Amino acid sequence: MSNLKTHQILKKILAPYRNLVVVGGNWGDEGKGKIIDLVMEHYDVTVRFSGGANAGHTVFTPKGQKLVSHLIPCGLAQNKECVMGRGEFVDLRLFLEELDQSKKVLGRRLAPIWLDNMSPVWTPWHGLLEAWLEYVRGKGKVGTTGKGIGPLEGLYKLRIAPLVGQVFLERQKFIEILELLYKTLQPIFKEMKAEHIIIGNSISTPAEVADMLMAFAPKIKPFVTDTSFVLHQGIKKHQRMLFEGAQALGLDSHYGTYPFVSSGNSAAFGAAVGTGLPMQSFDATLMVVKTLPTRVGAGPFPSEMWQRSKAMEFAKQHGQLFVKGQNRDKFLSSALKKINSGTASGAEWSQYFQVLGDERGATTGRGRSVGFIDIPWLCYAIRINGPKWLALTRFDMLSGVKKLPVAVGYRLNGKLLVPGQLPPPWDMAKVKPVFENWPGWGENIYGINNKKDLPTAAKAFLSRLEKHLKTHILLVGTGPGRGDIVVRV
Ligand code: IMP
Repeated sequence: MSNLKTHQILKKILAPYRNLVVVGGNWGDEGKGKIIDLVMEHYDVTVRFSGGANAGHTVFTPKGQKLVSHLIPCGLAQNKECVMGRGEFVDLRLFLEELDQSKKVLGRRLAPIWLDNMSPVWTPWHGLLEAWLEYVRGKGKVGTTGKGIGPLEGLYKLRIAPLVGQVFLERQKFIEILELLYKTLQPIFKEMKAEHIIIGNSISTPAEVADMLMAFAPKIKPFVTDTSFVLHQGIKKHQRMLFEGAQALGLDSHYGTYPFVSSGNSAAFGAAVGTGLPMQSFDATLMVVKTLPTRVGAGPFPSEMWQRSKAMEFAKQHGQLFVKGQNRDKFLSSALKKINSGTASGAEWSQYFQVLGDERGATTGRGRSVGFIDIPWLCYAIRINGPKWLALTRFDMLSGVKKLPVAVGYRLNGKLLVPGQLPPPWDMAKVKPVFENWPGWGENIYGINNKKDLPTAAKAFLSRLEKHLKTHILLVGTGPGRGDIVVRV
């Protein structure tokens, strides 16, 4: 539970907003789980509307027990009703595993959980197709999480996806549905065999896939329903609902940096697409932004401190530095000295923040590359998501940094772009961010949870950022705990 004062202030602020959308504003890993955890205290139902096993949210129960969820909404940690909307892609095995894990942590009596009968269902073929697509792309690969999300969405749009509720059909009917998918993919599987990407006969037949998925049927039955109807009824009953986005705007399939995106609608409008609720149902959006944005996988990232591959390799090679202890402390203190001497290279800036923030993915364990605050990107994200407020996570990571480069504009072909304007992704490599050095502060703000305890320079930093973004920064994260948050009213 957040501290009492935070709880009371938020209660008042959020009271008029019965249906709240929470989305990420960068390229994922903004710490949405923690923010959702915090605001969830003021909502009855938690709803996922996009993504699938590619997402990874770490949340804590009120007793402080850790839960990592991929499919089930974060609200489960508080044992609130959970809805997995139609926009979510479902791996049934993973869903059941998450249920078991959750029961271990929360006890056997879980709050109601609903799974949409028309969400696309994962099969092993989706995984194979994803491997093929990345193989064909070669050097231009997306660097997906390997959870088959692209194929799930793509094949759904081709109208050949098996759906959750179809596992309850007669076996032969379900096999026919799967055959259509299998036949479409067969030429690709043949090619994969020829290229030795698939060795031997390791491709399941439609009958085998049907049996595998139908074996889950009795266990998932109590959860499967038309979730859009459940949500509609909930709204009629005045339940307060929190719609939690997965991934983030930069990874949205329409408004992210295509083709280096995920395949769902991770922008705020995805809440309507992925739940079937009318647009006027949504009262406000809270956009979660990481103080220093990060990216895994490939794709444009204008304010990136170092080369992606090098940053990812650094995390892989120096795993021991990421573990709390003397080595890490020594590394961080000498890196910070270098940064504050004004002579640090991009690599050194990146390494410092990678280690400080333990920037490694919850789903894949891959190292994340770090960027400076990118105001032009945020202006774009604000234009698309239309948030009422921002939640700025990991602000404590700037403690002790004397001066921080902040990207305040994008220059393309010598011309300064208007805030909110974004060139097409294929031109983004040509974008030159315009940097300003903003003064930091010496004090450690880790764990501060009261606005008045923030150093004056940190307050000034926030106000300056807010002026550029023209959006109120309501929440400021100062540490990983639920209580490590400043509410700015
Ligand atoms: P996919 O979602 O597995 O198709 O991967 C597409 C891109 O989105 C890749 O660059 C992934 O690294 C990225 N991605 C997907 N999910 C997440 C996430 O939860 N956090 C950060 N990046 C993600």
